[in-house]
Amino acid sequence: MELKDTSAIVTGAGSGLGLATARRLLAEGCKVAALDRNVSVLRGGEEEYSAIIEADVTSEQGLAEAFAQAVDTCGEIRMVVHCAGVLGNGAVLSPSRGTLPLKRFADVIAINLTGTFNSIRLAAEHMQGLSPLEDGERGVIITTASIAAWEGLSGQAAYAASKGGVAAMTLPLARELAIHGIRVMSIAPGMFQTGLLSNIPDQTLQHLIDDVPFPKRAGKGEEFAELAIAIARNRMLNGETIRLDGALRMRNPNS
Ligand SMILES: NC(=O)c1ccc[n+]([C@@H]2O[C@H](COP(=O)([O-])OP(=O)(O)OC[C@H]3O[C@@H](n4cnc5c(N)ncnc54)[C@H](O)[C@@H]3O)[C@@H](O)[C@H]2O)c1
Repeated sequence: MELKDTSAIVTGAGSGLGLATARRLLAEGCKVAALDRNVSVLRGGEEEYSAIIEADVTSEQGLAEAFAQAVDTCGEIRMVVHCAGVLGNGAVLSPSRGTLPLKRFADVIAINLTGTFNSIRLAAEHMQGLSPLEDGERGVIITTASIAAWEGLSGQAAYAASKGGVAAMTLPLARELAIHGIRVMSIAPGMFQTGLLSNIPDQTLQHLIDDVPFPKRAGKGEEFAELAIAIARNRMLNGETIRLDGALRMRNPNS
């Protein structure tokens, strides 16, 4: 897909990977609707973004209204990059806090998995009505999984389940939406330097960095954005989750 003058919605655009992607898409000449439940850091960028939209991805009505607003201001949306998400660590059995309340698990699933699906269904609904481009392509949807989908650490049952769900639905959605010329791809980052990592203890972070074969550091938001752009440009990429992790295979600190 040619990116210049293409319109995109980026969710989670207020921070981290979403923010880096939104900025990179602007630099590529895209019209960008930046969506987040916390848009405070985006304020002041109104002249660059076509729209700055405050919305919660878990809200059926709220996200539908947000997508409608994005279409109103940007026109045809051909690309959705869904980055909104939370870490949501929580031990099932904590000596100090007791058994994990069911709501804590459900909340992480609601944001990371159901919220992702909410975006996908609204993107697909809009894209199916667009005119086909080369090869019959109408649009591309890129979601954000995590390598925790395969190697979740202790205390990450909810997070790993949510990201496993994101990875697992990528192929069936790509198969279903193929008839409409809509591609569905997912990126599974390893460890990236964003606000999300502020919730991880320093010792665990250092341990994870030590385990990255190469390059031995956390990834940068720009590197995530670079892959999102490569996916948008390459129509043969479809129905797959790509690890972006410097070959990191997470293991528990004590294992
Ligand atoms: N940073 C990493 O190391 C890493 C690794 C693997 C996967 N990920 C995934 O990447 C995605 C982006 O994370 P990040 O690292 O940029 O974190 P971040 O905390 O910097 O950004 C996440 C953004 O999502 C927004 N958000 C959260 N819940 C929302 C909701 N219900 N509705 C709308 N917006 C919401 C937040 O306000 C925030 O701006 C997440 O899905 C995360 O799980 C991150």
